[in-house]
Amino acid sequence: ETGVRVAVLGCGTVGTEVVRLLTTTADDLAARAGAPLRLVGIAVRDLDAERDPVVPRELLTTDAAGLVARADLVVELIGGIEPARSLVLAALGSGASVVTGNKALLASYGPELHAAAAAGDADLYYEAAVAGAVPVVYGLRESLAGDNVTAVLGIVNGTTNFILDEMATRGLSFDEALALAQERGFAEADPTADVDGHDAAAKAAILASLAFHTRVGVDDVPVTGIRSVTADDMREARENGYVIKLLAVARRDGERGISVRVHPALLPVGHPLAAVRGAYNAVVVEAEAAGRLMFYGQGAGGAPTASAVLGDVVAAAAHEVHGGRAPRESAYAERPLLGPADV
Ligand code: HSE
Repeated sequence: ETGVRVAVLGCGTVGTEVVRLLTTTADDLAARAGAPLRLVGIAVRDLDAERDPVVPRELLTTDAAGLVARADLVVELIGGIEPARSLVLAALGSGASVVTGNKALLASYGPELHAAAAAGDADLYYEAAVAGAVPVVYGLRESLAGDNVTAVLGIVNGTTNFILDEMATRGLSFDEALALAQERGFAEADPTADVDGHDAAAKAAILASLAFHTRVGVDDVPVTGIRSVTADDMREARENGYVIKLLAVARRDGERGISVRVHPALLPVGHPLAAVRGAYNAVVVEAEAAGRLMFYGQGAGGAPTASAVLGDVVAAAAHEVHGGRAPRESAYAERPLLGPADV
């Protein structure tokens, strides 16, 4: 059979929506990629778990490594470091392209993964890792490849933005708002990664690496989460014309270096990021020639994140068919990381 053999690893909220799009829009995807995308298997931990009927049971397998070995393109949606890291490296090593939404993996092992992609002559795409459907990875990696980015400022965690928003506008307590976010399917399996800012820190590291063509790992990002923000803080901020948002901030200070951090911040109500509601994400990018840009949209949830995954799948599959590769990120400039005291 002809076509590009696609393996999906992980079948949670996002994986299920990816399978839905792959199966229900197959003809459109084939036309855009230049060949049919053949879903050859879905690796899961538990074959018997309850699943959406759109997931073809006969494609489920617990043998993720075996599945990777018979794919041209691997979609990794397991999350976390292992076994995701080994599976992604195995895929890239065999020349299969990888599309991943795994921010933790990229923020800790980005340089290793990019080197493996280069060595395997494969693509590594990860639009879904930052801000869900919002094409900010493409924006920084491709659209702005000819410019010099000076700052990236964003709301990149939907769960915390939703929680802060519910607290500010409906007076919910932190716990009530968190429970609601979990119900809506934005939160990570373990929501401490959201509320303590580690999810945003991983995304900040990825954005800073792309923006400044350098290596920034999650451990380089000082982080403060939103646990200590109270309803009183919210009220007081509003009375003074501010809102509280969890911001990821990355700046370049000329040739001196860059600073990257995540923390709750007071924004004047008129600031464009102050208007970002619910689980939406927004990223403001400042570049020398382009000036100020804003990327905005749904940053979490199954369908929006699946949209980003499928865009990458089509791009990688088109490369399999027509040739070409995603931009290489192996030529990093060394830029000193400045501590908060230097900024
Ligand atoms: N838990 C994440 C969020 C999901 O709330 O933004 C998207 O990475």
